[in-house]
Amino acid sequence: MGEIQAADRPGRGLKTIFIRQALLCLVLISSSGALIAGAKPGKAAIASAHYLATEAGHEILEQGGNAFDAAIAVSSTLAVVEPTSSGIGGGAFWLIHRASDGFQTMIDAREQAPAAAHKDMYLDEEGNVNRDLAVNGPLAGGIPGEIAGLEHLAKNYGRLSLATSLQPAIRIAREGFPVDEKYHAMMGWRIDTIKRWPAAAEVLLADGEKPPVGHIIKLPDLAWVLEQVAERGAEGFYSGPVAERLVKGVREAGGIWTMEDLAAYVVKERDPIRTMYGDYELVTAPPPSSGGVAIAEILNVLEPYPINDLAPVLRTHLIVEAMRRAYRDRAIYLGDPDFVEVPVEMLTSQYYADGLRASIRPDRATPSSMLAGNDQIQEGTDTTHFSIIDADGNMVAATLTVNLPFGSAFMPPGTGLLVNNEMDDFSAKEGEPNAFGLIGFQANEIKPFKRPLSSMSPTFMIGADKRAVIGTPGGGRIITMVLLGILDFIKGNEPESWVSLPRFHHQYVPDQISAESNTFSPEQVEGLRAMGHEVEVRDRPWGNMHGAMWNLETGEVTAGSDPRWPSGRAIVK
Ligand code: GLY
Repeated sequence: MGEIQAADRPGRGLKTIFIRQALLCLVLISSSGALIAGAKPGKAAIASAHYLATEAGHEILEQGGNAFDAAIAVSSTLAVVEPTSSGIGGGAFWLIHRASDGFQTMIDAREQAPAAAHKDMYLDEEGNVNRDLAVNGPLAGGIPGEIAGLEHLAKNYGRLSLATSLQPAIRIAREGFPVDEKYHAMMGWRIDTIKRWPAAAEVLLADGEKPPVGHIIKLPDLAWVLEQVAERGAEGFYSGPVAERLVKGVREAGGIWTMEDLAAYVVKERDPIRTMYGDYELVTAPPPSSGGVAIAEILNVLEPYPINDLAPVLRTHLIVEAMRRAYRDRAIYLGDPDFVEVPVEMLTSQYYADGLRASIRPDRATPSSMLAGNDQIQEGTDTTHFSIIDADGNMVAATLTVNLPFGSAFMPPGTGLLVNNEMDDFSAKEGEPNAFGLIGFQANEIKPFKRPLSSMSPTFMIGADKRAVIGTPGGGRIITMVLLGILDFIKGNEPESWVSLPRFHHQYVPDQISAESNTFSPEQVEGLRAMGHEVEVRDRPWGNMHGAMWNLETGEVTAGSDPRWPSGRAIVK
């Protein structure tokens, strides 16, 4: 085992710093196009969870739009055709890279708590969390950010008007779209809650029942809302008749939104998390996402190991031990950076990673209970991701969400949109499990105007030879799925491989490796158990990853759409 130890690589520190600086230089030069002849992809790649959204993005590119206009078309179309996963009643992170000057930022349009929200808002008289209120119905909803984010993208980065880029979504909301396998499957889980809200049941069900695959859903009220936005920009959503319908609907059904809450919503631009891993710069989501910090921390711990050349059991063990430590830190330190001090520099530093690595035994699992800290974790489950590279080399990695499938299931009458249940990404009570047995604590407690901690991890990998755009939905597992995709990219594989990979996950608590059924052979499971790991193999697949890559050496642009759900589509043209 000795050959895998960082300490056995003399001079690593200085050498790493030198290589990083040299590579950063190369990357910067190449991002301005000076080193790589004709450094433009010439083709555009879009990969999303729905063929209608991918096609909408290309439609807008063909009208002269860039990746950012296409991102508006894809986001708004997903908000119509994939109500299981995201919507204009929810929020989003768009990580963007502008080719002309290499500028990168993350547009944070995460939902935020309304003014009347408070720490104990989901507790009953005995101090127990009322799980129903926390996830079902209007009290579960944070103030939506997606429309503000779309306007921000159009105004600051797009070439076309917001109204132009919204047209495909408006058209599809009016004309209708067919129910797909994912909609059908997720409705099986949420139908009883949907039935509690007549406006939602009327448009999302078929005669009050789960619609079959192929059934056409039309959302004329949602088309009207999008038209208001097309006419008046974000003001058409956050004030005026749409806002009045939202507030009236929410309050009549027991929620606490006000017109002032909607008017107070603002988009924030956040500096991405950056770190070098091998020859590539990781550029990823900062807080209020936990994803970027956790991925950077895991990669920093793994960096000295020849991770992709190790035997499968040892490779899995080391990755799992890095995951375990990063998820411990996620639980302790992470929250909305506008409300809590998040020690990002420490958590993403090599010094810190060196310390974590020193605590890993190469032959034994570290019981989570032996690590200092609180066993507190938190997540959501349904979300969507898309990846875009345009012909000029602009890139967008976007992850959007309403949290659980169909969000809170509550639809304010006359709006056609589902209110998110993102408030459940806060911790409703310190140490108390959320819907999925996961718990959170003080850094992530509810406060007015605060944004709940997210796991959404839209990510770029930037090298002198290749650029990758990657992300996925999947609640707390988003981080580890993106990590495995990054390691596959580093191995030299294409997006189709990253998105198809069998997945495994460890999140500190519960202290177990969970894995998709095709991830490990029986011998590998036995090997991991012999090291002290508990391994739980699950029947259901997870995630819905969509990635894109530009190979600057060959000039090729490729994309991949997760085969787990058939509606996903990657198109390069
Ligand atoms: N609601 C999923 C997330 O933000 O992580």
